[in-house]
Amino acid sequence: QTKGFIFDLDGVIVDTAKYHFLAWRSLANQLGFDFTENDNEKLKGISRVKSLEMILEWGNITLPEEEFNKQMALKNEEYLAHISDMNASEILPDVEKTLEYLKNKQQKIALGSASKNASPILERVGLLDTFKVIVDGNAVTKGKPNPEVFLKGAKGLDLNPEACIVFEDSISGIQAANKANMISIGIGDSKVLHEADYVFKDFTEISEAFINKLIENENA
Ligand code: G6P
Ligand code: MG
Repeated sequence: QTKGFIFDLDGVIVDTAKYHFLAWRSLANQLGFDFTENDNEKLKGISRVKSLEMILEWGNITLPEEEFNKQMALKNEEYLAHISDMNASEILPDVEKTLEYLKNKQQKIALGSASKNASPILERVGLLDTFKVIVDGNAVTKGKPNPEVFLKGAKGLDLNPEACIVFEDSISGIQAANKANMISIGIGDSKVLHEADYVFKDFTEISEAFINKLIENENA
């Protein structure tokens, strides 16, 4: 069988979730407040605009539009500085091994990310060619937990949503995958990602036998 494997980017393929956190946190600090790593879980998978809206709400701050846009640009500048000299060493453990395995099994692979920085990051770590279908923050109008990003991914792969499997590190992304009727696989903490169909700490915990089962699963 041919299944579609849709990968989130930040926190699944590369360890950039920490850079988003650092940049948002320094923005909050500059505005005179702080937020925790626990709060940060709510930001994962959320677009740049929506993230800033949420953070400002936590700090009880409203900004005029011009200042809002300026803060958003500053955050992205700091984020870009963090990822400027990224290379393949920042690909998370066993991600490449999993991608290779899927390719050898003739499975279809797509990217489903909220980030507008997705393509340059894939390019920097040498994975741009691996993803023939890229649905990123430039391609969607409704962010996760809306399923649009993954439904577009399935369409790009020419598969039914039911034939797709999503790897996600964010609560909003797991919800999006579930709403899209896809199999949701959480990468991270099983307490945080309890809505996922399966959760693994990272790709080193995902066996070939498990992937084979996903491929052979008949309900698609
Ligand atoms: C991903 C990350 C979020 C980030 C969003 C937008 O989903 O998990 O933390 O806010 O992408 O990223 P961007 O690179 O466009 O600011
Ligand atoms: Mg993510």
